[in-house]
Amino acid sequence: MCMLSTKATCNSHGQDSSYFLGWQEYEKNPFHEVNNTNGIIQMGLAENQLCFDILKSWLAKNPDAAGFKRNGESIFGELALFQDYHGIPEFKKALAEFMSEIRGNKVSFDPNHLVLAAGATSANETLMFCLAEPGEAFLLPTPYYPGFDRDLKWRTGVEIVPIQCTSSNGFQITETALQEAYQEAQKRNLRVKGVLVTNPSNPLGTTMTRNELNMLVSFVEDKGIHLVSDEIYSGTAFSTPSFVSVMEILKERECDENGSDVWNRVHVVYSLSKDLGLPGFRVGAIYSNDDRVVSAATKMSSFGLVSSQTQYLLAAMLSDKKLTKNYISENHKRLRQRQKKLVSGLQKAGISCLKGNAGLFCWVDMRHLLRSNTFEAEMELWKKIVYEVRLNISPGSSCHCTEPGWFRVCFANMSEDTLDLALQRLKAFVTEYYNIPEVNGHHQTIHLNHSRRRSLTKWVFRLSFDDRSPIPGR
Ligand SMILES: Cc1ncc(COP(=O)(O)O)c(C=O)c1O
Repeated sequence: MCMLSTKATCNSHGQDSSYFLGWQEYEKNPFHEVNNTNGIIQMGLAENQLCFDILKSWLAKNPDAAGFKRNGESIFGELALFQDYHGIPEFKKALAEFMSEIRGNKVSFDPNHLVLAAGATSANETLMFCLAEPGEAFLLPTPYYPGFDRDLKWRTGVEIVPIQCTSSNGFQITETALQEAYQEAQKRNLRVKGVLVTNPSNPLGTTMTRNELNMLVSFVEDKGIHLVSDEIYSGTAFSTPSFVSVMEILKERECDENGSDVWNRVHVVYSLSKDLGLPGFRVGAIYSNDDRVVSAATKMSSFGLVSSQTQYLLAAMLSDKKLTKNYISENHKRLRQRQKKLVSGLQKAGISCLKGNAGLFCWVDMRHLLRSNTFEAEMELWKKIVYEVRLNISPGSSCHCTEPGWFRVCFANMSEDTLDLALQRLKAFVTEYYNIPEVNGHHQTIHLNHSRRRSLTKWVFRLSFDDRSPIPGR
């Protein structure tokens, strides 16, 4: 007799996706700049470590915030005992203002409509519980964040139906793709309760256009369903076109509590894991205009509250307007520089990316390096990159991309030197195994011909039986 529940043992968690398997491989042999220079470089983790110096220097100047003190006096007891699931009012106010500031103060957020959660993971799951019954569906544009299979489906029993987006228009959502996904859900007898988008997108590293957002709002208006906008990367939009929140679109369309009922069906998810680079602090939020959603989500937030000392510290940090202003602009600047470095390094290896303007990663096109236009070939290439080049990147298939050969490559969770080494390894790999000619120091993006495919097959064979390679840092 199995002693575990079916929920605990079913596969919807997605732990065996290559996205998570890559992390496991990294854990077995993690790169270290001094102690393990031959190890696997982690490029599959969307962490933002570029502005820690700013936060650390603020902490050094404001010791009360992390020392559980107010005006030098200990408030240990107050924080230790605080347990109101509505959250600390000062923190919610500061978070709501920070969310507005990131959006150029074009929209404001009412702290009374904000529900705190232990990260966007918890916020997304809570919203699913509030908005859908088990067996009902949400439509999600592909490619999407691999964690959604766990966060949206696993415990709630909600189904995901993909909105198929392709490289033909830079993976933008089209009206046709939306309608087709809706019909696909109906064919599968699934009642559609909403659409969930990530803006800026993980894994694309792009912001949604006004057109796309307007089309989505019209679609959910027409169908009478919800729209969830996961805006966890809103503060990472480092380049033009600038980020537009779905809340700004509602304002432009003059949807408000007195107007159309779509106002109550649009919900935003946010977190400090990416913009401030604090995934360890577990701070997320749901913003909804619907009081009933706010009330239900607040009750459910008991399962994933944000600790009071974290709220206290961040209330002080985010209330410091000088800090937030400087942080937001410096974060943009550093992310822009990093992304540029990755894009130009890849270019030198003959690899191009989707043109990005946000996020902590690039959506990288390696279709020309595949042995065939299949997901088997994508996995083959991914394994070579993980085991031989020793870079953990995420295959597009783990993000439900419908075209083989795309990979998500992160750039903000390592030092510049480590990124240089990663790019050096990749360039050496491409040169060695694909014999791609260099012109003016840059590899040309060319498609594999038969003889190259043959030499690749030979190399795959060699990989299994003779694990040697000329990759730098080894
Ligand atoms: C789109 C998206 N939503 C949610 C999450 C989960 O974030 P958190 O650490 O706040 O739970 C992530 C993390 O990578 C993400 O990329």
